[in-house]
Amino acid sequence: MQRKDGDGKGRRRGLLIGSATTAALLGIMILVSWKVTGGIEAASTGLGIAPATAAERTKSGKATAKDSAEAKAAKDEAASLAALKAVKTYDHAKWHPIHFKPMIDSATDAQCLTCHKEVLETKVRAQSPAGVKAADAVAWYQTLDTYSGDQATFHQRHMSTPFAKQVMNLKCNFCHQGNDPREEASGSSATTTAAATGPHDLRKQNSTASTCLLCHGKFPAENMGLEGKWPELREGMESAEAPNGCLTCHAEQFRTVRHQVSYLNAGAIEAAAKESSDTCFGCHGGRQWYRISYPYPRHPWPGMDASSTPDWAKDRPAVSDPRFALPAK
Ligand code: HEC
Ligand code: HEC
Ligand code: HEC
Ligand code: HEC
Ligand code: HEC
Repeated sequence: MQRKDGDGKGRRRGLLIGSATTAALLGIMILVSWKVTGGIEAASTGLGIAPATAAERTKSGKATAKDSAEAKAAKDEAASLAALKAVKTYDHAKWHPIHFKPMIDSATDAQCLTCHKEVLETKVRAQSPAGVKAADAVAWYQTLDTYSGDQATFHQRHMSTPFAKQVMNLKCNFCHQGNDPREEASGSSATTTAAATGPHDLRKQNSTASTCLLCHGKFPAENMGLEGKWPELREGMESAEAPNGCLTCHAEQFRTVRHQVSYLNAGAIEAAAKESSDTCFGCHGGRQWYRISYPYPRHPWPGMDASSTPDWAKDRPAVSDPRFALPAK
């Protein structure tokens, strides 16, 4: 229904004036910043201290091998994005080979986001349809020291909120490893080998055992010779000077070779962990959605007693999944 009262018009006028002012201000800011950066660039080029750009090196015939490799990669990426943008029908998009192996293994986030921007842009409701306010419904994990900001969606909490970006580097295809969209679960039909035996646990879901469990399993106390729950155990181990009880044992003694995988920011994790054991506990029991723990690889560490392996560790690999190997330095 159209509102005809003066109040409505006044508000609309107010909005118009408001946006005109904002636009003008923005215009000035853009102009100023353009002038400033333009000025700095001009000055440094004039002084001869500006490093030559890849484009300049190419023009002067001094392109390095890295320049041309980077230029080619950028061109390929742009072409692949343009090709995905050109997909017009729903069926073509839904069945696009990028959703399946082998193409999904090398897909970039930018490619997926060409069509699925909504997964990172959608905001949670401020209030549920039944009237429960998001701000009033606090889950226990939201009380961990590391939790910050308003409620956010699942995808945002793993890819774009500050803590996620600080400690992790998850890509779409870390979780979405390609599955058969005809089938919700394997074994439901005998028509294709994939449908009969494939690992596609549930259609739009992921293999929880190889993704979520890594960071949402049970605190593996029994493997540490500890008994009880961490919230009680930490009492006797933490103080203002040493706020992270995990590091009593994990700073120098045990399993010090950890997190050397592409989807974690190992250095940032250790830095954040200096302040609170909630950083470590958050991924090792603090947000436990499963009753089991992940059987982590057991990397040999300096000072490890290699002569005796505990029974629980007998079948453990000694290296991380090669899919997530860090590039050689
Ligand atoms: C060309 C556009 C396009 C691209 C690129 C694309 N998708 Fe999709 N995707 C779709 C469409 C359309 C559907 C069907 C949506 C539906 O049925 O609700 C779909 C379905 C999905 C689903 C299942 C959703 C459901 O409700 O069952 C997932 C998960 C998914 N895509 C993830 C990805 C990932 C990860 C990538 C990158 C590797 C990707 N998509 C790239 C268009 C695209
Ligand atoms: C931490 C693991 C994880 C990562 C990383 C991830 N997803 Fe998902 N995604 C899931 C899970 C689990 C679901 C199922 C959610 C559900 O059933 O509601 C899902 C659902 C989806 C869906 C179906 C629509 C929906 O919201 O339920 C699409 C589309 C999708 N993801 C695309 C992407 C894209 C694109 C990226 C990268 C920008 C991405 N995902 C990164 C785990 C992940
Ligand atoms: C590499 C580690 C990692 C993986 C893999 C991972 N998570 Fe998480 N998850 C986190 C971290 C860290 C947070 C906390 C983010 C924060 O507090 O901002 C989190 C938060 C969550 C939350 C709470 C979100 C909220 O609204 O507060 C849920 C639910 C969740 N994860 C489910 C899953 C599921 C399901 C999967 C598998 C599809 C998964 N996670 C895979 C690390 C991970
Ligand atoms: C009292 C010493 C001690 C404390 C405190 C401690 N750990 Fe451990 N932790 C160990 C030992 C010992 C092992 C096993 C070493 C081995 O592989 O032989 C271990 C192993 C682990 C493993 C690997 C488990 C597996 O199955 O591979 C993880 C993960 C871990 N600790 C995380 C933590 C976190 C997170 C905290 C704090 C919330 C913590 N630990 C506190 C001693 C401790
Ligand atoms: C963002 C989630 C996350 C945080 C934060 C985190 N971990 Fe981990 N941790 C993991 C994952 C995932 C693995 C498995 C990595 C792999 O496969 O190599 C792992 C592996 C380990 C292991 C096994 C090491 C081995 O032998 O490979 C230990 C021990 C461990 N973490 C302890 C800690 C401690 C102590 C902290 C805090 C300083 C911590 N973690 C913080 C996710 C996390």
